[in-house]
Amino acid sequence: MKVKACRETMVSFCCPKYAAIFVFLAVFVFLFVLFNMDFLEIQHKGIPTFPVPRRHLTHRLCSFEPLSPEDALEERLLLDSIAWPETPSLPAPLSLEQTTDPAHSRFTILPEMGGQQWHIGDQLEVMIKMYDFRGRPKKSGGDVLLARLHNRTLGAGVAGKVLDHLNGSYSAVFSLLWEGSAQVEVTLVHPSEAVTVLKRLNREQPDRISFQSVFRSGSVSETTTCNVCLRPTEQPQCNFTDLTTGEPWFCYKPKNLSCDTRITNYNGGYKGKLEANEEKLFKSGINMKVSIRASGSSSVTVLPKNKDQPEVKSNIVQSGPVGYYYKDAWQSISGPTVRQFNTPSVINQCLKGKMVHLYGDSTVRQWFQYLNKALPDLKQFNLHSSVKVGPFVALNYADNILVTYRFHGPPVWSTSVPAIELHYIANEVDRLVGGANTVVVIGIWAHLSSFPTEIYIRRLQNIRRAVVRLLDRAPDTLVIIRTGNPRALTPFFALINSDWYSLQRDKVLRAMFKGLNVHLVDAWEMVLAHHLPHNIHPPPPIIKNMINVILSYICPQKSS
Ligand SMILES: *[C@@H]1O[C@H](CO)[C@@H](O)[C@H](O)[C@H]1NC(C)=O
Ligand SMILES: *[C@@H]1O[C@H](CO)[C@@H](O)[C@H](O)[C@H]1NC(C)=O
Ligand SMILES: *[C@@H]1O[C@H](CO)[C@@H](O)[C@H](O)[C@H]1NC(C)=O
Ligand SMILES: *[C@@H]1O[C@H](CO)[C@@H](O)[C@H](O)[C@H]1NC(C)=O
Repeated sequence: MKVKACRETMVSFCCPKYAAIFVFLAVFVFLFVLFNMDFLEIQHKGIPTFPVPRRHLTHRLCSFEPLSPEDALEERLLLDSIAWPETPSLPAPLSLEQTTDPAHSRFTILPEMGGQQWHIGDQLEVMIKMYDFRGRPKKSGGDVLLARLHNRTLGAGVAGKVLDHLNGSYSAVFSLLWEGSAQVEVTLVHPSEAVTVLKRLNREQPDRISFQSVFRSGSVSETTTCNVCLRPTEQPQCNFTDLTTGEPWFCYKPKNLSCDTRITNYNGGYKGKLEANEEKLFKSGINMKVSIRASGSSSVTVLPKNKDQPEVKSNIVQSGPVGYYYKDAWQSISGPTVRQFNTPSVINQCLKGKMVHLYGDSTVRQWFQYLNKALPDLKQFNLHSSVKVGPFVALNYADNILVTYRFHGPPVWSTSVPAIELHYIANEVDRLVGGANTVVVIGIWAHLSSFPTEIYIRRLQNIRRAVVRLLDRAPDTLVIIRTGNPRALTPFFALINSDWYSLQRDKVLRAMFKGLNVHLVDAWEMVLAHHLPHNIHPPPPIIKNMINVILSYICPQKSS
């Protein structure tokens, strides 16, 4: 694959007569570099020259130089920090026999002998042991697991933290936050063998979602393929790389039209390919998003806090959750108290005099739509824009409230949108004056999941730079970032927007904005902890809780 991509590049740059010699030389040089990569890296050690060697980017397709040595270093540290355990490779064609089987796997509440009394404030630890389809214990890690503790009757739920012991067993740790019964739920999202496939797809087929653009001038019209990176062919390309941010975007050049006649952008379908039998790794109900059963009891009874008794902490040090549901309302642990904004007048009162700018994907659009629906006096102005992509503007003249929404820059999976409406968030933020009346909300994750993580890192670095500039010139501006969330997985969506992709990007997002004066809406925990099924577009009860979190940042409870 690597060699093939390299050859394609070379062929397009020399005449066919010398192609064979050139290809031979190119392949030779490429292989030489490849096999001496470690050697080159060792040579660089001790001499802190930049840019650092980017060993993660040994693939040709979709590799861009970071914008600065600092960016390159951060990229490398981030990629190291999210490195996923390798899974032993299996003989082809793939058989499920040696892959993780949720039906054979079990979890156990610790201590195994029982007899423990649980109190509010304690930590509950669960040991999860994975087995393959033959019933043999797994010996390596890398399975994607989600864990939740809940009680439907109490409207209570909290996300657990999962730790991979890399030997086929995992721990899940939960904070005990409510009194009464609490039930453990552990879900296998993907066997580790599926992650191997997901990794490879992003490396080798970052163009498996095809984007198309119509170019038009007068009566001449042509459609070509576009992407963050295109496979080199003999066809010339139009370079739509954003001059301010350096965000890459390319289209094959239309034959009879110039590059500046681009009119629209749309999703031209899925072109990904799996190897033989790999689709077996993505079967709903068999090995994708399947609950794992308990050996023994799956629930505990939590007693009130006992002042005299020391809290039970798990053996594994883990940061706790940021919040939990109780009576179906999100309670914050690490942020400001979440207030309930139940009527239009309370929301209006909070937003009075504010300009709220929402930037990002459809999961941020949901918030625009929620406010627009919840507030009768907030009127959406008809910009005749795309229903899915916007932009949108809504106004309440009397209370001087402005709410805007704009989609993030490409890649955008959507029906046709005018190319001219594709704006990068960083550029939009750079055009804001900011101040105490300005609220900026950013959410970008799902549309970047089928690309190498480097693309997402670069995008966030650009957005962060713009946010830092905004907070420098107007420190009173409130900036809120939405994280990604788990979704319902079909075999199709698993290959482009798996929770594993989202989880990895989520870690990058959190690290990227750590230490800045920005606030998070932890959509990941808020969806995971809730009893409703995972959905890329969380259903109304979760959106309402998210809006309460946002409004609580804008209008925190006055300390009495
Ligand atoms: C795996 O590692 C954990 C943590 O070190 C340990 O408690 C557990 O016993 C190990 N499991 C197996 C099957 O070796
Ligand atoms: C929820 O908690 C209540 C009170 O402890 C208990 O009676 C009930 O059985 C629990 N429900 C579930 C589904 O665990
Ligand atoms: C595309 O344009 C950008 C900005 O002008 C430039 O830095 C980059 O090298 C160009 N890429 C290609 C492949 O021509
Ligand atoms: C380009 O123009 C030529 C001459 O008018 C025409 O034959 C050809 O079909 C056009 N190509 C495309 C891709 O529209």
